[in-house]
Amino acid sequence: MHSMSDASPARRPRALSGAQPTADSYHLGNYIGAFRQWVALQEEFEAFYFIPDLHAITVEYDPELLRERTYVAAAQLLASGVDPSRSALFVQSHVPEHAQLAWVLGGVTGFGEASRMTQFKDKSAKSGHDAASVGLFTYPVLMAADILIYQADKVPVGEDQRQHVELTRNLAQRFNHRFGPTFTVPEAHIVKQVAKIYDLQDPTSKMSGSSVSHAGVIDLTDTAKQAAKKIRSAVTDSGSDIRFDRAEKPGIANLLTIFSAVTGRDVDDLVAEFEGQQYGHLKVALGEVVGDFVQSFGDRTRELLDDRAELDRILAAGATRAREVAAPTLASVYERSGFVVPRADA
Ligand code: TRP
Repeated sequence: MHSMSDASPARRPRALSGAQPTADSYHLGNYIGAFRQWVALQEEFEAFYFIPDLHAITVEYDPELLRERTYVAAAQLLASGVDPSRSALFVQSHVPEHAQLAWVLGGVTGFGEASRMTQFKDKSAKSGHDAASVGLFTYPVLMAADILIYQADKVPVGEDQRQHVELTRNLAQRFNHRFGPTFTVPEAHIVKQVAKIYDLQDPTSKMSGSSVSHAGVIDLTDTAKQAAKKIRSAVTDSGSDIRFDRAEKPGIANLLTIFSAVTGRDVDDLVAEFEGQQYGHLKVALGEVVGDFVQSFGDRTRELLDDRAELDRILAAGATRAREVAAPTLASVYERSGFVVPRADA
């Protein structure tokens, strides 16, 4: 048997990702665009998946809501197929090394470099630049710490996070160059366009938990009825033929993408099946498919949420496993940074 310790050259490559618990529930786009990839990566990678609660406090929020959303997030990741016997599933704040490494990385991050992060610019424009928190500004540095503390090789994220992973790579290289080889330089694993799900009411912008109205968002906590209704009310395109054309028919393309993702059937196959039928037929059929999906997903989530002690146990085991990897990384970072090693016996 190979040892799985860091010293072992035979360790499996590592994948790492997180999804913010900033809404009452994750949505179908998170599941199709992200979590299914996370689940698939468990086969080949030693995976670390976590709920970034430290990131969630960088905008105005409600503490009690955050606590509940963190549990829901954990249950939904498990319901998605994240397997705690294979992967470390944990809450970011349970592993203090993230915040500790973020502070050190802050010392090698340029103010100008951080100022160029487009997500910060977008988010701070929303609240008004002066109202944005310092935490929101340093958010990408914490994200870099999330990744580097585990020596992650692959980071599955959406296109919107590419710049943050690029920053992470720069910080890793800079630190390695200045203080000696310490970090693995990670690679982003960007989810393919085909798995990208758009808002049902605005099929040119991506399905997002922060949308004001959830009429175009299938939440993973929706009932079958709610989901089917949202699909039926989806905005469709002019014309009446059902074909896959992202530019001309973004609404129908989105419905076909969802159909294909949830059933595993080929888009071409679906187009052939619905040939000559009306948009309404597609919506009714898809409404049923998605309704069944959210129903069983919801059942599984509720079952997990009903046993908080078991959820706590899973998250504690995940944090323990995470710290086994994070603590030695932080120790070597501190050593290279020139910090005196505290001596318990001094
Ligand atoms: N910023 C990511 C998002 O909003 C969430 C996140 C935090 C993350 N830390 C991470 C993703 C580390 C990947 C790796 O989607």
